[in-house]
Order: sequence, then structure tokens, then C-alpha cells
Amino acid sequence: MGQAENSDRQDEFSYFGMQSMWGVTKHMGGLKATDELAALCGIGRGTRVLEVGSGVGLTSCHLAAKFGCQVVGVDLSARMIEWATRRAQRKGLSEQAQFRIGDAVGLPFAEGSFDVVLCESVTAFPPDKQKAVNEYTRVARAGGMVGMNEGTWIRPDPPAELVSYCERTMDGAHFLTPDGWRALLVKAGLQDLVVRPQTVNAFRQKLDELSGLEWEDWRERLGATGTVLRMYARDPAFRRYARELMPSMSNARALFYYLGYGLYVGSKP
Ligand SMILES: C[S@@+](CC[C@H](N)C(=O)[O-])C[C@H]1O[C@@H](n2cnc3c(N)ncnc32)[C@H](O)[C@@H]1O
Repeated sequence: MGQAENSDRQDEFSYFGMQSMWGVTKHMGGLKATDELAALCGIGRGTRVLEVGSGVGLTSCHLAAKFGCQVVGVDLSARMIEWATRRAQRKGLSEQAQFRIGDAVGLPFAEGSFDVVLCESVTAFPPDKQKAVNEYTRVARAGGMVGMNEGTWIRPDPPAELVSYCERTMDGAHFLTPDGWRALLVKAGLQDLVVRPQTVNAFRQKLDELSGLEWEDWRERLGATGTVLRMYARDPAFRRYARELMPSMSNARALFYYLGYGLYVGSKP
């Protein structure tokens, strides 16, 4: 195997590398949490929405179809953008939901471009989270809303072993407490804050991820499952990677005891 091919494979054997190959991204609470966030942000017909870290475009397309809003999705990954663009085309939403490459910590938009800026399971990843939230706030218009759904330590003092397991297996994900997330919004100058921490469990989370999916989305998920199984059967490097992702018994037990998610919303003065 040549060097370039090898480094492509290294990229694939990562949390986002795998997700962008399989075409599956997710956030805690699924589309039910998305609807709650949309309601808190006042999304309706014609609202100009920016979704930061739009992944494979499930939320952007859902919002465009359900509320008749105009959505721009940005993501760091070109492969995610391709999945999202194809989804919008398939659903006949290409006019309403458009996607381009963009970084949360340096958004390619002028100040005040959007009525609502939202993200789901994204701000946990950039090391400089304050810079990201400042960017969300900058590109929202005065009177507009910033809304986040982010992984949250809902109980104090998560074990160090669990924190490092999450960072290691989820491309450096670093979750905060409700107060930690809230402080970022305050420092960005947002006001009228809403903070809603939520608990989840593994079964509930799976149900939430799958509920609200349309037939074509189900087909895509089934295709992704087939790809994973084929890779597992055929590729020893993938089997090694999959084994590394397996949590220890103590991490498996602790995960959803400590980790939930939170909705964090504020308005720009
Ligand atoms: C856990 S996935 C969630 C995707 C989507 N929000 C969803 O709920 O399905 C996180 C996404 O954020 C993207 N991402 C990570 N860091 C980013 C950054 N600094 N700027 C933009 N996107 C980023 C990843 O490429 C990935 O698509």
C-alpha cells in the first residue's frame, strides 16, 4: 500500500473519518432534541438558519422540510458536505438547504448574516470553544438566536478514565458541565439564556437517533450497517480499530451515568 493510500486509511480510522465514509452522523436526543432547539430559537418559515457542523445534513434537511426555513450547513469535512448535498437533492430541498466547507472557529460569513445559528454535537470538538461560540454570535444578526446541543457532564466529577476514553475514541471530544457551556454563551455576550441539561441512556439514545427518519434515510443507515459488517469481516486493520473503541466494563457502566446532553440557547443583543 502506497504512503498516500496509507494516510487516507489513517484518516478513515478515526471517529469522523468513519462517519464520513459511512454517511452517518448523530447527536444526542436525535430529531426530537432538534425540534426542541428549533422551538427555543424560534425557527419558522423563511428564517435564515446556519447549521455549524452539519455532518451528513439530517438536521438541515429536517428543518428546511418541517419549517420552510432557509438553511446553510457548514462542516470541516468535504465528504460530509457531499452526503449532505446529496440528501438535500434527494429530498427536493436543494433550493432551501445548501452546504459548504467551513470551520466553526472561523466562519466564512459576514457579521449578522443569519437569524439563527445552531449546532449539535460540534462545539465539543474545537479546542478553543470560546472562539467558536464567539463566531456563532458574530454571524447571528442583532436580536437573532444562537442554539447549541452539546454533550454534557450531567453529574460532577466524571472519572478521568471515562473522560480520556471519550477524548480518545471521539476525535478529542471534550465535554463540559452545564455551567461550563453556559459560561461560553455569557462570555460571547448572549442574553436571555436557556440551559436545559438532559439525561439519556443507551437504549433511549438509539431510539431517538432512529425516530423521525424517512424511508430513504433508513435505507442509507442499512447500507452503512452493511459496509461496517463487510469491513469487519474483511479488514484486520478495521477489526483492530473496532476493538480499540470497545469501552472497558467500568466505562460502559459509567458512560450514560455521567454523560448526557444539554440545550444551550441565547439571544444576541
Ligand atoms: C458528531 S458530528 C454531528 C454532526 C451533525 N451535527 C449531526 O448531528 O448529525 C460532528 C460534526 O462536526 C464536524 N466538525 C468538527 N469540528 C468542526 C469544526 N471546527 N468546524 C466545523 N465542523 C466541525 C465534523 O466533521 C462532524 O460532521
